[in-house]
Parts: sequence; structure tokens; C-alpha cells
Amino acid sequence: MSNIVIGVGGGIAAYKACSIIRHFTESGHHVRVIPTESALEFVGRATFEALSGNPVQTGVFADVPQVPHVRLGQEADLVLVAPATADLMARAAAGRADDLLTATLLTARCPVVFAPAMHTEMWEHPATVANVQTLRDHGATVLTPASGRLTGADTGAGRLPDPQEIALLGELMLERPDALPRDLEGVRVLVSAGGTREPLDPVRFLGNRSSGKQGYALARAAAQRGARVTLVAGTTADLADPAGVDVIRITTADQLAAEIATRATETDVLIMAAAVADFKPLSVADSKIKKNGDRPAPIELDTNPDILRAAVTARAAGDITAETVIVGFAAETGDEHGGVLDHGREKLARKGCDLLVVNAVGDGKAFGMDDNTGWILADGGQETALPLGSKTLMATRILDSVSGILKR
Ligand code: C5P
Repeated sequence: MSNIVIGVGGGIAAYKACSIIRHFTESGHHVRVIPTESALEFVGRATFEALSGNPVQTGVFADVPQVPHVRLGQEADLVLVAPATADLMARAAAGRADDLLTATLLTARCPVVFAPAMHTEMWEHPATVANVQTLRDHGATVLTPASGRLTGADTGAGRLPDPQEIALLGELMLERPDALPRDLEGVRVLVSAGGTREPLDPVRFLGNRSSGKQGYALARAAAQRGARVTLVAGTTADLADPAGVDVIRITTADQLAAEIATRATETDVLIMAAAVADFKPLSVADSKIKKNGDRPAPIELDTNPDILRAAVTARAAGDITAETVIVGFAAETGDEHGGVLDHGREKLARKGCDLLVVNAVGDGKAFGMDDNTGWILADGGQETALPLGSKTLMATRILDSVSGILKR
């Protein structure tokens, strides 16, 4: 159980802080909410008190004997500010301490995460850009906001990342405070995620259990490390689009192959986290296949393209830049021919990618779970064990390996 301070700035997205507070209390953490005075114009004090189970103050003169303006920050394991408005970040960057939240930000020595939300013009204004940089220079993590519908009819960058995503990133910072350096600034990253569906007829398909969580975690972490990320997503669990990521949807392996083939020529990193069906029905019926007596008709299968292998081949042929880093995944179970790691080594050699992330699957492992474990195998022979941790944490470890071999 950790001490989490959730700061809430005065923006319309303040109501979304409620689900973040709930996430952390339900995970068993001790949560203190510190809104600014203007945040209380949007959400009442009673809501924050009821959700956190703790008293809520905005100023430095309440409960003075407890010295909350110093103590809350000192005792925190994580300070998460959502939404962080332009004004709040300006005050924090300047080192002001004119309310309880800014005083807490000055005394906190734990990871501090700002989740900005504001209109695009404000986000792009040189004053805000400079304040964000100052906060990052001071060691805080300022998240890349999402793009999309803002208050009113506006759309653009500046939307608060999805609360589920902010909570996951907050958990990540508890697991590993240095998880989100800005070391991938401007790097183009292409990630595939989720499962494919291979239609049999208009209503049936062959699919798999992939939830897409690992691929989404990779896209999310890469974007938060400054990368320009495109995520090509097949079927997934109900996951929020990662903030600042271009999301393209596909259904079949052929569609995925086409998207990757065109986009791989314009990327610095390709990460194939998708669970691609190896086979597809040889023919797709135009109308629903009818029951035909008691014996079902066999399904004849055709092979899907190996997209990862094709990318490696295209790189060798010079169609994809030689510097492009290619990462594959292998979901393995041990069998009579060898363990999970043996199969992983064999697959790395066969696929010819730079890194292969090997996960043990089966028995409720990996597929659909929030946690993951495995190894990163590099083509030079280095093998890094990935201890059990969240898929977001695993994503940051994979990106560390990618960052280490990127030629820039
Ligand atoms: O051979 P296997 O399916 O185990 O390989 C897994 C890796 O290859 C994953 O990175 C997956 O995204 C990729 N793959 C692919 N095209 C296929 C099958 C798998 O790119 N048809």
C-alpha cells in the first residue's frame, strides 16, 4: 500500500480525476486528494472526500498543527496531478507555493506526474512549452496529452489521457520511478497489437485470445517517452486508445500485412506484438454456412503471410532502412522438444529480428492478464530475464533494449 496524492487542477476534466481516485483506493492505496480552489468549481469537496475517504483541503492554513503543506508531500510515494492545467503547471514550474497543492509539489521527493488537459492553443503556447520543459528538467513526468474532442466543438492536442491510462502510468511510476525518460523523442515507432480475425462466412471467424494489452502498453510507453507512435490494432479487449498515438484498426492478417508493409518503410522501430493467425480459411463463404446433415464440413486452411519475417526480408533487400529495429514476440509453451526459452532461441534465429520477446503462455499466463513475465533475446546472444510485472513495466523494459540498439 502506498501513499498517493492526487492533485486536481481547475479544468473541465476534473471530473475524470474521480475514476483515477477510485482506481487507487480500490487497489488498496491510501489516497489524499488535493484540489486547487478552482477545481472545486467543477467537482465538490464532498465527492473527493467520499471517494478518497480522507479530508480535502485546498489552502495551507487548514489543519495547521498537522503541517499538511509539508507533510503530505514528504510522505507521498507518488504525486499525480490530473488534470494539470496551464496555470497550475506555470505555478509549479515557477516553484510557487501559494496553495496546498503547489506547496505539496515543492516538498514531494517521490515521482511526480502531471497529466495535462487544456485547449490546443494553450498547450502549444511557448509559455506552456517552456513550463513543461522546466518541470521535466526538475525531474517531473509530464504526460503527452491525447488528441481529440476538447470542451465545446474544438478538437486537437490537449485532451486529458484516458483515466485508465493515467492510472496505469501512475502504477508504473510506483513500480519503477525512472520508467518514462524522454529518450525516444521524435523516434518513429510502429506497433501491432491484438489478435486477427479470419472470416469463415459473414458471421463466423477464426480468432485468438489476444487482449492487445502488451502492444497497447508498448505504444503508450513509447509515446510517453517522446516517440511518434502508430498502433495498428486488431481485435482487443476494451482498451483506451493510448494518448498521443495514431491508432489504425484492422481485422485480418492480410490487412495487417498491408498496413505494416507500407508503414515499415517510414519507421525507426517496428514492434510486432500482434497475435497474427498463422492460417486463414481457404475460402470465405458469401452467405452464412448452413448445417449440412450431422457431419460438419471440414474447414480448409490457407497460410497467412509471416509479416515479421517479411519485414526482416524487406530490410535485407534494402526496401526498409537498415537501421530499422525489428522486434518480434513469441508466445511459447514448453514441450518434449524443449523449454520455453529453447523455443524462443530457435524462433529468434528463424525470424531474424533484432529482439525477440519470449512469453510463457498457457495456464492463465500472459493472454488477457495484466501481468507478464519472460525474456528479451537479442540477436547478439544477450538474454534479459523479465521478472513478473505489469505489462506497462514490461513495455518499458523492452523499450530500454530498443533504445540501447537504436542508431541515431
Ligand atoms: O511464429 P510465431 O507466430 O510464433 O511468431 C510470433 C511473432 O511473429 C510475433 O511477433 C507475431 O506478431 C509475428 N507474426 C507475424 N506474422 C504471422 C505470424 C506471426 O508477423 N503470420
